[in-house]
Amino acid sequence: MTISKLSASEQEATTDAVLAASLKSQQEKGPSLRQIHPKSHGLVWGEFIVENNIPDAVKVGVFAVPQTYPIWVRFSNAGEAEKRGKFVSDKEPNARGLAIKLMNVQGEKVLDDEDETQDFTLINHPVFFVRDVQGYIDIAKVASGQADPDLVKAMQPSFAILQETGSKKVVNPLFIQYWSTTPYNLGSQAIKFSVKPQQEAVSDSISYSDDYLREATVKYLTDEGKDAFFDFLVQLYVDEEKTSIENPMQEWKEEDSPFIKVATIKIPSQKFDFDERKRLDEGMSFNPWHTLPEHEPIGSVNLARKKIYQELAKYRREQIQKRLREPQPFYFIKDEPH
Ligand code: HEM
Repeated sequence: MTISKLSASEQEATTDAVLAASLKSQQEKGPSLRQIHPKSHGLVWGEFIVENNIPDAVKVGVFAVPQTYPIWVRFSNAGEAEKRGKFVSDKEPNARGLAIKLMNVQGEKVLDDEDETQDFTLINHPVFFVRDVQGYIDIAKVASGQADPDLVKAMQPSFAILQETGSKKVVNPLFIQYWSTTPYNLGSQAIKFSVKPQQEAVSDSISYSDDYLREATVKYLTDEGKDAFFDFLVQLYVDEEKTSIENPMQEWKEEDSPFIKVATIKIPSQKFDFDERKRLDEGMSFNPWHTLPEHEPIGSVNLARKKIYQELAKYRREQIQKRLREPQPFYFIKDEPH
């Protein structure tokens, strides 16, 4: 496996630059909201059922023995909020996020802010839009019109991926497939993972409001009383050419590394569209580094996420605490439902 083009000091300096920019944006737009993925279509509970008959090679970490973990699952839009209480409409182009938190996971964890969780984060496209954390800085530079023509040209593939990701038609977050895009360890091997719905997409009677993705999820899980099921799949690393570790803009093709089903996600019919659940959602922290060492995230993009997610979630939770400790007038917090 080749290593990142960035040296360790470049990786660190670039991560700090992204963190500083993200923190500034979070402070300005909504200190107690996630800087990206702020808009939730629902925080729902369910079960993560590790299958009985999986190949020995993937019986590692949370997949080591067949068992059922309780989970929280959060569906989101990636785009930043304009401000607190004002989210981008679901009708606008956007990447859709899926975050899963397994609980009752025994064993030492990489971070120490949660003891018994294992998180998985995914988006609805097989590739990520930048190669490494430097790309995250570069694309922002181009978007703000501050880049020289060479950089503008170099970043075209990133904009193409963003456009492709954002333009997918989504009728319900329960009907689409999600991918990790970046690689993770599975013991001594490397994998990517994906979450694929079992239910067929139906688009009858959808009215495309600004919040139609939450409405569609409520309709399915609450009003119609249906359960949702997903397959949790992994793909094994083959070699750097076919299954690149350091370039998450490159897809791991199924013909090079077929998906192996390791678990079933069950989301039972439930009520979840109420204020107290939204508060829990707002304060929860999903972080790919909430993990057993066996599933440690790898590659430049994932490495950067360690400090960024931890620091931003810490700040976000402090702001939520502050809001509770010292009540603020409504006109100040603009605490609209979302
Ligand atoms: C350098 C690259 C990345 C940066 C800087 C970044 C940044 C962030 C930040 C700041 C948050 C909010 C964290 C919080 O306040 O708790 C977030 C959430 C999220 N990110 Fe990333 N991210 C990156 C890459 C990725 C990748 C590769 C994926 C998966 C394909 C991903 C999926 C998600 C999801 C699903 C959430 C929402 C989690 C939730 O529901 O709470 N991100 N990201």
